[in-house]
Amino acid sequence: MTVAPTKFRMNMFMHRAFLREIDRLLSRLGNLDMNDSEQVAGFQRRWRFFTETLAAHHAAEDQYLWPIAERSADAEEQVVLHAMAAEHTALEEASQSVEATVSVLMEREDTKGITAALSDLAGLLAGHCLHEEHAGVPIVAKYISQEDFDSFMATSRNRSNADLILAWVCDGAPPEIISGTWSMLPAPMRVMVRPRANRKYRRFVTECGF
Ligand SMILES: [Fe+2]
Ligand SMILES: [Fe+2]
Repeated sequence: MTVAPTKFRMNMFMHRAFLREIDRLLSRLGNLDMNDSEQVAGFQRRWRFFTETLAAHHAAEDQYLWPIAERSADAEEQVVLHAMAAEHTALEEASQSVEATVSVLMEREDTKGITAALSDLAGLLAGHCLHEEHAGVPIVAKYISQEDFDSFMATSRNRSNADLILAWVCDGAPPEIISGTWSMLPAPMRVMVRPRANRKYRRFVTECGF
């Protein structure tokens, strides 16, 4: 049994959230006082949240999606699946270039280097997300079993900051993504989780300063 491609909508929601977050980081750099240790620490915290969430998203795809699809994929599909993993590796390298500048932010004279590195990452990530949605996901949907798909979804749900991520995915998103995100939780759980998650996210935003 295969899985309908529409079941992968949370993947697309996450992609949009990653791209919005890079825009947020870039625009924060425009008014960041690099002599203010609190502002710099807030920026670094938000960057780490982004990069850890992105790494976990890719790790789950690398563990559950591409290898499972590879077992049944034809030669042309294999090329696409290998490209997915290679693009993750390129993104990890681009993230490390940003990390190298973010970790020493207070020692730098200006934000030009980090802005350039983040912009490179944004371009790579936008390309990968489109490629994955248009070419990678349809192949995975064709071959993955419901059981494997459920395991993939469970890894995201069971993360320690999963509720923070749900509220973050909705920040700045259009109404259909907001309703689509929360509707993934069963109604009784949603009533409990949504306000708590929103409070937790607002606190995170306040503590980071943006
Ligand atoms: Fe993805
Ligand atoms: Fe991906």
